[in-house]
Amino acid sequence: MSSGILILFVTALAAVFFYSRRRYTSSKLPLPPGPCPKFFTGNAHQLPKKEPWLKYATWAERYGPIFSFHVPNRQFIVLNSLQSATELLDLRATTYSDRPRVWMYTELARRNLNPFNISFSHPYFKTYRTVLKSSLSPRTIQSYQSLQTEQSRVLLDGLHKHPEHFVNHIRRNAATVILYLAYGWKVTENNDYFISILRESLEISAMLSQPGRWLVEAIPSLRFLPSWFPGAGFKRVAFDLGQKLSRLDTIPFNWAKQQIHNGSYTHSFVSEQLLPEDGSTVSAQQEEITKWCSQGLYGGGVDTTSSSLMSFILAMLLYPDVQKHAQAEIDAVVGQDRYPAFEDRDKLPYIGALIQELLRWAPVAPQGLPHLAMREDVYEGYRIPKGATVIANIFSISRDKEMYPDPLEFKPERFLGPSPQLNPRKFIFGFGRRGCPGLHFAEASLYLNISCILAAFTIAKPLDARGQEITPPAEFESPSLIWHPKPFKCRFIPRNKDLLATLSQ
Ligand code: HEM
Repeated sequence: MSSGILILFVTALAAVFFYSRRRYTSSKLPLPPGPCPKFFTGNAHQLPKKEPWLKYATWAERYGPIFSFHVPNRQFIVLNSLQSATELLDLRATTYSDRPRVWMYTELARRNLNPFNISFSHPYFKTYRTVLKSSLSPRTIQSYQSLQTEQSRVLLDGLHKHPEHFVNHIRRNAATVILYLAYGWKVTENNDYFISILRESLEISAMLSQPGRWLVEAIPSLRFLPSWFPGAGFKRVAFDLGQKLSRLDTIPFNWAKQQIHNGSYTHSFVSEQLLPEDGSTVSAQQEEITKWCSQGLYGGGVDTTSSSLMSFILAMLLYPDVQKHAQAEIDAVVGQDRYPAFEDRDKLPYIGALIQELLRWAPVAPQGLPHLAMREDVYEGYRIPKGATVIANIFSISRDKEMYPDPLEFKPERFLGPSPQLNPRKFIFGFGRRGCPGLHFAEASLYLNISCILAAFTIAKPLDARGQEITPPAEFESPSLIWHPKPFKCRFIPRNKDLLATLSQ
């Protein structure tokens, strides 16, 4: 590093340090308690590279349900109880529904219109929410039931013929259903073109948003460096990848538009938005909104529902009694000569409870997405500074022993009977005006796939060389924000050969 860059770096760091201290210590009220920071870098040295929610859970035991910490240029407030999360993020939603800026991603790569990152005060925000909520409402999603049913049969067929690739079958199922919902695109082969470009787009986005990777997140003033300046290579990276991302996103959207133009489209989110019922002309702005939201459906819907389904497989291996109970309910209500259908859902309360327990036991997004305090606030005698990043630690809430005795055990019964425990839907899908718009669709997909898998197979532990069962550990991992089980093996033992035979007909 040349001395010029070094001086620039140290000056910028010092400016950040003094600026953030002034910003976060000006009022008389204290910040929530938290771990002791270092002079320049705050608590950065104590943060793990992965799965920060586990660290937050241990800090919550020490500092209480609401604690704070900071890293250069960013103050964090972590809410570890349902009460604090709902009181702030739900009840004071107009203060807490913004998102923190990710300089590399939202600004330099120009991804600020992405539905996950768009600012609460952006004029598009309300339209995004209206469009997404109405397209994913319980009534609207009924139009995708036949595709979901068809794809659930493809999933069962894959599990039957190539059970060792169960993870691939699950991923393909989730991606196929969402691509159809978003664009009307039908996946017919394993190496699908749209799946590969959208996956690449998610990987680039994750890289650009990766915490701790880019210095500009700690020193935002670095973004003003000209791109040719030594050490400003990150600006060129952001620009090039931003261009690539916008090219990638446009491909499925333009395909769907072309289908509409040709009159050969199938009903999808894009067709619904671009062909309004009243026949009105769609503006360029509405087109842009549709493009971003359709891409948000893929980003939000694929890894989440597939991770949950993998956790379901793991849970059935570890809790065979739960599996037997669920299968007995299906046999009694649906019988053994057909697969469960959407119409059976209300008659299968144990399956409903199993899904609630799955979402709680293996929270897919253990720290949700970060919210941003848009103005200074006071809670429980603590100051929440304007600009603070506020995280609801969904992981800690899901393990709250008061709400869920024996929280590590998989017990669907906790949601049945005269005094059921709290439905985790209250927090698993996030909070306030940023709450997940895809929850009904996610629950419907889980219901259909879970009930059909249980009707067709018994999920069993893998065997070792001597034919003895091996119990996989209940362990999860996460490269980013989505938590899924660590790789494990299992067996899918057919329990209804007649039913499985119908798959090849
Ligand atoms: C098990 C499945 C799912 C879980 C657990 C889940 C969870 C979440 C969570 C925790 C958030 C952040 C909420 C917040 O900031 O407070 C979120 C946001 C979002 N989810 Fe989901 N989600 C799931 C499935 C889906 C599906 C199927 C879709 C779409 C088809 C979807 C689309 C979105 C979108 C677009 C957002 C961004 C909302 C915004 O920032 O305004 N999600 N989800």
